[in-house]
Amino acid sequence: HPLDDFAHGLPKAELHIHIEGSLEPELIFALGQRNQIELPYPDVESLRAAYAFTNLQSFLDIYYAGASVLITEQDFFDMAWAYFLRAKADNVIHAELFFDPQTHTERGIGFDTVINGLTRACQQAREQLGIRAELIMCFLRHLSEEEAFETLEQAKPHLGKFIGIGLDSSEVGHPPEKFARVFAEARKLGLRVVAHAGEEGPPEYIWSALDVLKVERIDHGVQSLKDQKLVERLVKERIPLTVCPLSNIKLCVFPDLGQHNLKQMLDLGIVATVNSDDPAYFGGYMNQNFHQPRAALDLDREHLKQLAANSFEASFATPEEKRAYG
Ligand code: HPA
Ligand code: ZN
Repeated sequence: HPLDDFAHGLPKAELHIHIEGSLEPELIFALGQRNQIELPYPDVESLRAAYAFTNLQSFLDIYYAGASVLITEQDFFDMAWAYFLRAKADNVIHAELFFDPQTHTERGIGFDTVINGLTRACQQAREQLGIRAELIMCFLRHLSEEEAFETLEQAKPHLGKFIGIGLDSSEVGHPPEKFARVFAEARKLGLRVVAHAGEEGPPEYIWSALDVLKVERIDHGVQSLKDQKLVERLVKERIPLTVCPLSNIKLCVFPDLGQHNLKQMLDLGIVATVNSDDPAYFGGYMNQNFHQPRAALDLDREHLKQLAANSFEASFATPEEKRAYG
């Protein structure tokens, strides 16, 4: 479709990608072999066949298992580099990558190993691919506040290597306010702040992410349209939502793409962006997250241009970088 060629050609920023969710089954098996880690699946096909999710938790169980093959700094580099090659092919010129240190430190992997491998890949992406790449460290919300504080302590020697913090993993039952104090400390350190909210959880979680955690962007936020007052605030304050259409279908947040609320968001004037979330698990990288909703929702050229423009507005690029992006 000509509009898919148009969307493909647009320079874009990706703001919601969990780097551990870019680990393709082929790379899981290659790293498993390199590190002599036994996987509970005999081959790539049977692992891929297990990617049939019913909700967020059913995905997270497999996602954390997949990450168990990551041991060395080189493994983290290889994972991120594979993502950057895909991003380049989709005309992503700015990327803010989430990483989940606790998924690794809980297994005895050093915080330094994780962040140094990722940082080296980000540097190489700038130098060799012309992609401005930044890291955002996420706390796992199913773990305790105390564990989040320990993680922030481990991160302090690396403050120059990541630009912000986020909050991910099992949403329902773990409201944003559980992490009020650790987010306050991170903000004092000068870090940017975002959080997943309103993916499966209620609009109240979006309110508390904004009012208690004081986040600058909401990850997902697709439940916000249930709350008229919240929509008014998102529009008025230009609070961006990093929407992940294919993720929402794979995790059964919407029954099919034709019922996704992305187009409504744009028509309401919400600063919505599209992103891939966990592309190796959800069946597509950045451009697929433009093409499939384009077809299902009959998005027009203006919607696509708006999504690309929103991605830069919503990014944590500096004002000078934003001007250079046009
Ligand atoms: N939601 C919450 N946690 C996550 C996700 C998500 O979509 N992807 C990876 N961790
Ligand atoms: Zn996510």
